Amino acid sequence: MTEVTFINKGGRLTVECKDGESLLQAGLRQGAPLPYACGAGVCATCVARAKPGTTRDLWPEAPAAGELKVDKGEVLLCQTSAAKDCEILVSSKIDLSSLSSLRPKRFKAKLIDICNETSDVATFRVQLPETVSPIAGQYFLLRSPDMQGFRAYSMTNYESSTDALDFVMKKVPGGIFSSHIFSEPSEDMNVEAFGPMGFATFSPSEARDLVCLVGGSGIAGIMSVLKQAEAVNHFKRHKLFMVFGARRIEDLFFLSELASLRATAPDNISIHIALSDQIDGHELPDIIHDLPAHQGFVHDVAQTVGGDEFMSGRLAFIGGPPQMLNSCIASLLSSGLPVSDIRYDRFA
Ligand SMILES: Cc1cc2nc3c(=O)[nH]c(=O)nc-3n(C[C@H](O)[C@H](O)[C@H](O)COP(=O)(O)OP(=O)(O)OC[C@H]3O[C@@H](n4cnc5c(N)ncnc54)[C@H](O)[C@@H]3O)c2cc1C
Ligand code: FES
Repeated sequence: MTEVTFINKGGRLTVECKDGESLLQAGLRQGAPLPYACGAGVCATCVARAKPGTTRDLWPEAPAAGELKVDKGEVLLCQTSAAKDCEILVSSKIDLSSLSSLRPKRFKAKLIDICNETSDVATFRVQLPETVSPIAGQYFLLRSPDMQGFRAYSMTNYESSTDALDFVMKKVPGGIFSSHIFSEPSEDMNVEAFGPMGFATFSPSEARDLVCLVGGSGIAGIMSVLKQAEAVNHFKRHKLFMVFGARRIEDLFFLSELASLRATAPDNISIHIALSDQIDGHELPDIIHDLPAHQGFVHDVAQTVGGDEFMSGRLAFIGGPPQMLNSCIASLLSSGLPVSDIRYDRFA
C-alpha cells in the first residue's frame, strides 16, 4: 500500500493506492474527483504528471500511451500505479476539496451466460459478490486475469440495486478480451470488475422527450437508459424517437425488447431500424420485427423520418462506432440541440 497525493494549484488530496492498482481506480474509489472518460487507456482524458521513478506503467501498450509527453512526466492515471509514496500533478480545473459521493469499487466477479446474438455480437452477464447501485447508462471496466488492461462495457440492464450486470459485446478484430469471449462461449470466466463509472446517464426526474441514435453494440448503455425510463413511466408523459442501425438484417439484435418497449406507449414511442448495406436482389422489408425499417445510415434515416423538429428541446443519447457518432453529433447540433444535451461514451 502506498500514499498518493494528487496536487494542483487549488489544493491537495491524499489517498491510499493498493499494490498494482491504477491511480484512477484508487482515487475514484476514495471519492477523488479525477478526470476520465474511458478508464481503459484509450481517450487520454486522464493525463497527469508524475516525478520520474515514482510510478509504474501498468499497460505500456495502451492505445493512448502514444499521445503522452513522456519527457514532461506525463502519465495516464488509468494505466499507472504508484511505485512508492508520490505526488501526482493533476489539472487545475479539478476541485480536490470536493469529494464525490459516487464511489466505484473493484470486485472479483464471474462472467457467465455468454450468448451469441449475431456472428460478431454476444451478450453476457457478470455476477458480482455484492450488490451495486449503478445509474442507468453507466459502464464497468472488466478484465480477465491474463490481461494487462481493463476494457469498458456499458450495462444493458437497469435495477436500482443488483449483483447481476448484463452486457453486449462486439467482437473486435484482433481484440484480446472479445476474442476470449467468442472463442470460449460456454465457459464461465473469472474476471475483475471495476465500476460503476461514466456520465452518459439518465435521471429518473428527467422531464424532456428523448432522442436515441444508436448503431450496433453502441445500443448497450441506451438499453439501460430505456429500461429505467420505462420503469419510471417516462414514456407515459414524454416521447421517444429512436433509430437503431446495423449494416444488415442479420446484424440486428434486441428487436423483441425494442418492440415490447414500443408496445408500452405506442403513441409516444417511435423506433425505426436503419440498414446501411443494400440487400442484393431483394427489397428491404418495410417492417422488421414490428419496427419500421429504412435503408441508410442512422443520422440520415433520423433526418428523413424525423426532420429537425423531433430533436428540438429533447435530450439525446447516442452510441456507436466513431464515424457514426460524429455524423449523429453533427446532425443533432445542426438541428439546434446544444452540445450539453447530447450524451454518449466514445467506444474507441
Ligand atoms: C465507456 C465505454 C463503453 C464501452 N461499452 C462497450 C459495450 O457496451 N460493448 C462493446 O462491444 N464495446 C464497448 N466499448 C468498446 C470496448 O471497450 C473496446 O472495443 C475494447 O477495446 C474491446 O476490447 P478487446 O480486448 O476485445 O479489444 P482490444 O484488445 O482492446 O483491441 C481493440 C482494437 O484496438 C487495437 N489495439 C489493441 N491494442 C492496441 C495498441 N496498443 N495500439 C493500437 N491499437 C491497439 C486492436 O487491434 C483492436 O483493433 C466501450 C468503450 C468505452 C470507452
Ligand atoms: S480515462 Fe485514461 S485514457 Fe481514457
